[in-house]
Amino acid sequence: MTASTHDIENAAGVLHAGGLVALPTETVYGLGANAEDPAAIARIFQVKGRPPSHPLIVHIAGAEQLDDWVEEVPPAARLLAEHFWPGPLTLVLRRGSRVPLEATGGLETLAVRVPDHPVALALLNAFGGGVTAPSANRFGSVSPTTADHVRAELGDAVDFVLDGGACEVGVESTIVDATGETPAILRPGGVTREDLDAVLGHPVEVPSTSHVRVPGQHPSHYAPRARVVLVEPEKVVAEAELAHEQGHHVGVFLPAPFADVPVKAHAVVAVPASMTAYARGLYGFLRELDEQGCDLIVASLPEDEGLGLAIANRLRRAAGPRTIV
Ligand code: TXA
Ligand code: MG
Repeated sequence: MTASTHDIENAAGVLHAGGLVALPTETVYGLGANAEDPAAIARIFQVKGRPPSHPLIVHIAGAEQLDDWVEEVPPAARLLAEHFWPGPLTLVLRRGSRVPLEATGGLETLAVRVPDHPVALALLNAFGGGVTAPSANRFGSVSPTTADHVRAELGDAVDFVLDGGACEVGVESTIVDATGETPAILRPGGVTREDLDAVLGHPVEVPSTSHVRVPGQHPSHYAPRARVVLVEPEKVVAEAELAHEQGHHVGVFLPAPFADVPVKAHAVVAVPASMTAYARGLYGFLRELDEQGCDLIVASLPEDEGLGLAIANRLRRAAGPRTIV
């Protein structure tokens, strides 16, 4: 059931009172608090189990509000905001004075975006301020793409859950550092590198495809309980069957070209050929295999183009070491 006007007003009241509201966005569900309330922000970190040095994203209702939240908007940032908002693009800019350091993990920069979801926009307009929201999952685990995922993972720790249906994009926003003259991608996401290039008129910097590092991003992010093993697409079936014979409860991400190949495994997910559908389904697939009791997931990486870049980034992190570095 999607949130009613009454629900939105209640949720805005919860934010004003210093509470936490889970809200749908087009990417994933967020765990929101009043971006100007340090005590409410502290509760986000507590509920998520997230170290306080990890900066959050502030969500605002429209590009015209950007100047209220940041110190300076360089021309390239303005161009990107006007072109992609509302949408799955987060801009990192110099922090304005109304944003408490608790929201930015002590940084002098601020990550900000306008979500493209009617329920999120209705909440932001009813509330009137900025809502700071990380993904509504426990630290290090898979982001939620439905209200049920949020309820299952966070339960009573959230004061109000707004249901806006399943998230359309399914992976988090693209984070672009726009503090300098040349914008650079810090985290690939729902807006593709190719789309950014087209609007900027030159190739956007991607510091490193596989080792994009942002404060608060660990290799073990986006991980299901099951261990994830990445192999070449044509080796997925053999690798999965070997692990199955060894007694593992194997979940398989079967690449689209091999969809018709029978696999001996505990559970099989047919990976959609369309990257849009794959991104939308990715986190749900990982949760599903966890729920089915898989202890090992065998998958392969899509090509690093279009939404494939974000999907590959999340899969690499899901397969990454579990220790925090
Ligand atoms: O799609 C999304 O971006 C979702 C929805 C809810 O909007 N939010 C989300 O938030 O993914 P979170 O907290 O899970 O990831 C935000 C990431 C942080 O891990 C951090 O790496 C980066 O944004 N970040 C935040 N502020 C930053 C800053 N000032 N400089 C660099 N990176 C920053
Ligand atoms: Mg997250």
